[in-house]
Amino acid sequence: MNQLLKGKKGIIFGALDEKSIAWKTALACHAQGAEIVLTNAPIALRMGQINELAKQINAPVIPADVTNMDDLKNLFEASVKHFGGGVDFILHSIGMSLNVRKGKHYTEMDYGFNQKTLDISAMSLHKVLRTAWDMDAINEGGSVVALTYIAAQRVFPDYNEMADAKALLESVTRSFGYHYGVRKKVRINSISQSPTRTTAGSGVKGFDGFVEYAEKMSPLGNASGEDCALYIVSLFSDLTRMVTMQNLFHDGGFSFTGVTQEIIEQMGK
Ligand SMILES: NC(=O)c1ccc[n+]([C@@H]2O[C@H](COP(=O)([O-])OP(=O)(O)OC[C@H]3O[C@@H](n4cnc5c(N)ncnc54)[C@H](O)[C@@H]3O)[C@@H](O)[C@H]2O)c1
Repeated sequence: MNQLLKGKKGIIFGALDEKSIAWKTALACHAQGAEIVLTNAPIALRMGQINELAKQINAPVIPADVTNMDDLKNLFEASVKHFGGGVDFILHSIGMSLNVRKGKHYTEMDYGFNQKTLDISAMSLHKVLRTAWDMDAINEGGSVVALTYIAAQRVFPDYNEMADAKALLESVTRSFGYHYGVRKKVRINSISQSPTRTTAGSGVKGFDGFVEYAEKMSPLGNASGEDCALYIVSLFSDLTRMVTMQNLFHDGGFSFTGVTQEIIEQMGK
């Protein structure tokens, strides 16, 4: 499994610190021979440690608030200039809930916050793809991956409005996947990842219990951030050229497990 991404160039959104799924993915893509442009919101660049990662993988960092079309245009223009051509892959690893952050229960949602949550966490994928589409900035056969969570299909009460945001994100993945597939054989998929200890993950109420429950409910155990990075590499590679418009569970089997022996034994105690 060597140099699967040799010659490929890509943009990675969302590396905040070394726990970030995007951070681990950038390292894995680099190890497989890819060239990368890193991007994050200006405030995250000030608070996070992205420059350390940039140094390690020799990548430029170009700030962009993913909700701002001017920032995105600038990001793609600068990336195309840097690479001397279009990109082969894009990772959308972005999520933020204002209602969760402000401690608002789902039933008392602030709709102004909700608009921002949907914009940052879901419609931003459309904005990224639209920007690339208008500039024709993704190469033939390119691959785009967005990260999501199973709360889009099943209720996890404390996931709050992010469940709705992820459902919308997965829908944009399918809808844009159709158009970009027809136009340029570009693949667009979402990966539904196990709960993972990161800054965004830990924002969910009762997160530790959540992680432990998922661990016991998954025949293979929870998938780590490193495992996720490797799965993303496979989707960016030419080995998966016919996979598109899918929501792909990367969760050790959690999504198709009704109950496990471990949970039954625990309930019997
Ligand atoms: N951690 C988990 O348990 C888990 C499980 C399934 C899916 N996911 C998803 O994985 C993705 C990555 O999250 P993570 O867990 O690595 O946490 P993280 O906190 O490291 O990453 C979230 C990123 O979103 C960025 N971001 C927020 N607002 C932005 C904006 N306006 N413009 C640009 N970037 C912005 C943040 O700066 C940060 O880098 C998210 O979509 C998250 O929902 C996480």
